[in-house]
Amino acid sequence: MKESLLSAISGIYRFIAYNFVFYFDSELTHEIALSVGEFCSKNRWLIAPFAFWLKPRNSKLTQVISGITFKGPVGLAAGFDYRVNLPRLLPYLGFGSGTVGTFTDRPYEGNTRPRLGRLIKSKALLVNKGFKNDGIDFAVRKLLIDDFELPVGLSIGKTNIAEVCTQELAIADIESAFKKAECSPANFNYYELNISCPNLNVDVSFYPPKNLEELLSSIDNLNLSRPVFVKMPIEKSDSEILEMLRVIVKHKIVGVILGNLARDRNNPALIKEEVDKAGKGNFSGMPTQKRSDEVIKLAYENFGEKLIVVGCGGIFTPEDAYRKIRNGASFVQMIAGLIFNGPLLPAQINFGLARLLKKDGFNHISEAIGADTKKGKISDL
Ligand SMILES: Cc1cc2nc3c(=O)[nH]c(=O)nc-3n(C[C@H](O)[C@H](O)[C@H](O)COP(=O)(O)O)c2cc1C
Repeated sequence: MKESLLSAISGIYRFIAYNFVFYFDSELTHEIALSVGEFCSKNRWLIAPFAFWLKPRNSKLTQVISGITFKGPVGLAAGFDYRVNLPRLLPYLGFGSGTVGTFTDRPYEGNTRPRLGRLIKSKALLVNKGFKNDGIDFAVRKLLIDDFELPVGLSIGKTNIAEVCTQELAIADIESAFKKAECSPANFNYYELNISCPNLNVDVSFYPPKNLEELLSSIDNLNLSRPVFVKMPIEKSDSEILEMLRVIVKHKIVGVILGNLARDRNNPALIKEEVDKAGKGNFSGMPTQKRSDEVIKLAYENFGEKLIVVGCGGIFTPEDAYRKIRNGASFVQMIAGLIFNGPLLPAQINFGLARLLKKDGFNHISEAIGADTKKGKISDL
């Protein structure tokens, strides 16, 4: 009943978005959404009446992961809230967690415009922001203001400026951002280490095992006080992903997020007429869905005993989230689904997941994690 009502509201959202909002510039719409979100965060009495049924509060979906209580399995992925406007609002939309950033040691004004676009028929967003952000000092200041009702993640990456052009400088730059976050009294619960942004101008790559090893050793040495998740690429071969995971499990990393944007313009989910017109950038949404599902399974199958797997990419329905969970994700994150299906999608997914768990005879979400995947193929590495 609640799920059907949310689905009807989502139908109205889609009508308005597809016939009106999607004619406006994507970046402008994003900025307006963030400002409206911040206004609602500060005036929560406006949205409080809906809270009792939208906030995640089903005990079957509540989990303690790495010592953090997640009241719901749907998180906001890094990139949408890059100015820390939304953490207080997110629970009112059904989110169980939210990541802010990616923030970098030094601010970056973003790549040249256009930085955002929509491929409506392909259900994809075109992203070319290149870590547009106000810098880690800004982030920790904003995170000081509040205590939040849900776990907040702080995503950190390498500053996207020409000076940070070698592996050594990139590691020093990332270390510096972590140190600033660590030394501040900022209020957040976990870190994301973003090594997979495909929109950076200076191509320092942490994918080769030696480079990743060096980066993660330096992170180990920081003895961070919060758990760290690594945000992974998805468009690598299975053996390359496994090679990266083999390095990751040797370090103080609790989990991996699978994963980031898709680059491949021949991705079968992209409609040719749209992709031909698309400018510079990489894709979120439907083009990430299939490969993200596959690499979640791969990671869980091989390293599920050692790493928490977080599913991210192309979640538009409760079934999409459930498939990722059954493949091995402990929780999921999203952005594109919100744009195409509306801000109540997380609440809709929570209700849908409860329905799907019941249908399959699971009493708790933890029983469904990895239900379609055999864990522990490679046990000792
Ligand atoms: C506008 C936009 C900006 C993004 N910026 C970041 C970012 O700064 N850091 C990051 O780790 N991922 C970033 N991403 C990738 C998302 O976190 C996510 O991995 C990807 O969009 C796939 O999920 P989705 O299909 O639900 O959108 C961005 C995505 C979008 C759409």
